[in-house]
Amino acid sequence: MKMFKEEENVVCECSKALLLALGQKDEHTQLHSERVVELSSEVGIALKLDINQIKTLRISAAFHDIGKIGIPDNVLLKPSSFNDEEWEIMKSHAINSEKIVNTLDFENSDIIAKAVRHHHEYYNGNGYPDRLKGESIPIYSRIISLADSYDAMSSPRPYHNKRLHAEIMKILEEENGIKHDPKIFEIFKNIIQISKYKVN
Ligand SMILES: [Fe+2]
Repeated sequence: MKMFKEEENVVCECSKALLLALGQKDEHTQLHSERVVELSSEVGIALKLDINQIKTLRISAAFHDIGKIGIPDNVLLKPSSFNDEEWEIMKSHAINSEKIVNTLDFENSDIIAKAVRHHHEYYNGNGYPDRLKGESIPIYSRIISLADSYDAMSSPRPYHNKRLHAEIMKILEEENGIKHDPKIFEIFKNIIQISKYKVN
């Protein structure tokens, strides 16, 4: 039996275990996170990130919504829209994700913690939790945000039907420069055409 494994494998297995734990509470978010890992990687490769950056991106994507494990079921699984108080609770998942990553001490864990904290920032500065703007938002967060948005709209939820690819792209175009980084969106438009995560 192996007593020691490379740190990288431990991190990957740790993220799988945590995602499985999240999935026992909310399977949709587990499966969503797994797809966001792959779609983010496709975008990262197209952006010519190096191998270490791709690893950092993949771990960040795996952990981006892990903080939802701390959101009460009556909010997380609510089948209708949130009131103001519920919305504030839901928004706290980004900081919860950061806190969970911060308990782990591995290579680039500080960068990953920031990447997950900022995955709901908007390119125009109107996101949360810190209202960061433009390129002050970590590049990993900007990539994850786009993959997250596409996947969220392509999956059926109790409060919305699964959208078609053309509808999703129309919404993303409208949000371009508001929610998402225009340079990353240009790359995304090409990548999604050949991605297995493209919906019909
Ligand atoms: Fe999120």
